[in-house]
Parts: sequence; C-alpha cells; structure tokens
Amino acid sequence: MSAPVLAVDALGVVFETDRGPAVTVDGVSFEVAAGETVGIVGESGSGKSTTSLAVMGLLPRNARVTGSIKLQGEELVGRPDTEMRELRGKQVAMVFQDSLAALNPVVTVGDQLAEAVRVHHPGTRSSVLRGRAIELLELVGIPSPHTRVDRYPHGFSGGMRQRAVIAMAVANEPSLIIADEPTTALDVTVQAQILQVLRTVQDETGTAIMLITHDLGVVAGVADRVLVMYAGGLVEQGSVEQAFYEPSHPYTRGLLASLPRTDRRSRDDRLFQIAGQPPRPTDLPPGCRFGPRCEFFEADPCSVTAPPAAEVGPGHLAACHFVDKVVASSLDAGERGTGD
Ligand SMILES: Nc1ncnc2c1ncn2[C@@H]1O[C@H](COP(=O)(O)OP(=O)(O)O)[C@@H](O)[C@H]1O
Ligand SMILES: [Mg+2]
Repeated sequence: MSAPVLAVDALGVVFETDRGPAVTVDGVSFEVAAGETVGIVGESGSGKSTTSLAVMGLLPRNARVTGSIKLQGEELVGRPDTEMRELRGKQVAMVFQDSLAALNPVVTVGDQLAEAVRVHHPGTRSSVLRGRAIELLELVGIPSPHTRVDRYPHGFSGGMRQRAVIAMAVANEPSLIIADEPTTALDVTVQAQILQVLRTVQDETGTAIMLITHDLGVVAGVADRVLVMYAGGLVEQGSVEQAFYEPSHPYTRGLLASLPRTDRRSRDDRLFQIAGQPPRPTDLPPGCRFGPRCEFFEADPCSVTAPPAAEVGPGHLAACHFVDKVVASSLDAGERGTGD
C-alpha cells in the first residue's frame, strides 16, 4: 500500500483550564490512506473535534499538543501558523456542522468559491475562477449552477449550503477532507444526500475523508474503516465490517446495542443503554477510562493500568484488558450472524 495521506501517532491534546489540565486527546494513533473514508465515532465530548482541529492546526492557545501528525509525510505538530494557513484549503480542508457560519452572508457563493481557489492560485483570471466555481457547484449536485453561482448563501436551503461548503472544501483538491458532523444539522433525507455528495466528491477527486460523527448509522453507510473514541482515547479501530459485526471493545458493543436495528433484534428485544456518564477530561479515572461503566470491569487490572491496543484481527485493534472474554461472549450471544 502507498504511504498514508495522514499518519497520526500518539497524539495528545491537553487544554489548560481553570480546573486544571483537561486531557482531551491521549495516545491516539491512526492512519488514513489515499481515497479512503475513515469514520470517527464516539459520544459528545470524547475528543473527536479536538483531534480534527489538531490536524487542521486550529486549536486555541490553551492547547498543548504532543505526538506526531504527518500529512503526506510532513510533520504538522509544531508548525508555525503561517505554514499551516498555507496548507489549509490546499492539502487539508474541513467541513463543519454549521454551514451558515462557514459562509460569508454578504458575498455570493460563486465569489466565495472563486476566492477559495484564488488564495492558493493567485493571478488566476476571473473568468477561469468563475468557470471553476460553476464546475464545483455542479460537482456537489447544485441544480442550475450557472444561475446559483451568483446567489448569496441566504438564498440556499440548509442542504444546498452544506453542498456549497463541501464545494469550498474541494476547491483546491486537497488530499484530505475532514468533515465534522457534516449532516447533524440536517433532516434525514438531506443527510443521506450530503453523504452521497461526499462520496461523489471522493470518486471524482480521490481525496481521503475523515468523517466525524456521533451517529454510527452514518459511518456504516459511508466509511471504509471506523475509529471509536472514548474519553479522549481510541478504544477500537477496524474496518466497518469488523467494528459492526465483531465489535471487540465493550464500549463499541454498548454503542451498537443502543442503536435501533431493523435487521435483527437485540437479545432481549430492548434497546440497551450504557450505564453511567463519560468522565470529565479534568478528572479521568486511573487505568481504563471506560472501566467505571464496563460490564467486564475488575479492579485489577482495570483500575490499575491503561489497556494497550491489542490486535484482534487484521487491522482490527481493541484496547481492553479482557478483549478475549469480550470476543468470546459476542460469539456466545450469537451476535455475529443470524443462525449459525
Ligand atoms: N478550548 C478548550 N478549553 C478547554 N476544554 C476544551 C476546549 N475545547 C474543547 N474542550 C473540551 O474537550 C472535550 C472534548 O471536546 P470535543 O473534542 O469537542 O469532543 P467531541 O467533538 O467528541 O464532542 C470536551 O470536554 C470539551 O469541553
Ligand atoms: Mg465535536
């Protein structure tokens, strides 16, 4: 396989706060290959956005970043702001949840797209920029792009605005697009359309996509691989099939069990809820952070040492002291298939 577009190694982000250091991302390692879509899932507050902002170099001043983030083989951690600004949009671009905030209300969508291209290609003729803006609107499935290009963002529906934001992100054909909850503000039908747009963009441009969402359903539909975050750490990573059909961390199993499913019923026909709350980043428990909520918990080792990521299959990792027990119990429960 060729070198990954993104290689994150032992990433740590600590925010200095009034209540002390908030350990928000800790020991996170993963890679994203060219043309691949990697989903990052986890409850609100688990550090997903902080991880993506670290990649973009957009963390606030009270953040301390450790570890390594390599984009196309080049280290990003410790880069000066001026260099990160040059990279953003050109090599890595981001799509946020709030498309209204991402667009300038007093500039036409076409002019914003043209500007996004011009920043990295100064001197491009305005007729060329306009042509490119129309082409980009077409790529993201905006009807009548020749007329829509001259409209202002408020003349666009929420779904159309998010398409325009995706068009801005792909304007310079970055090698990586980070989409942070890109469909959360949209209704279900539009959500599906936006995910389809991301897929089209990927087919056309070959860009890698990091798709951040609290919604496992979104990941199942579009991602190749999944990273599961809990309290700042990666608890499991693997292909979509591995994560959904052979979940090997108790947290992943809990997340899956709390999903409404149409294809099979949960063991007792009720939706499962993980008991308790995730810890605060300023007050993490010792050892395994999921320990206090875990059905497999045993004080030693769970409250003593942080579990290392163990390989449970090819490219499939789970960070649990009792991963063998977890895997065995999934098999017992017949959760891998429907009748075998
Ligand atoms: N600038 C900051 N200063 C202090 N704490 C922060 C800051 N930004 C985020 N956090 C904290 O980091 C944690 C993780 O946040 P975030 O990465 O946004 O999670 P997610 O995207 O998974 O919901 C939260 O507890 C949040 O309050
Ligand atoms: Mg977030």
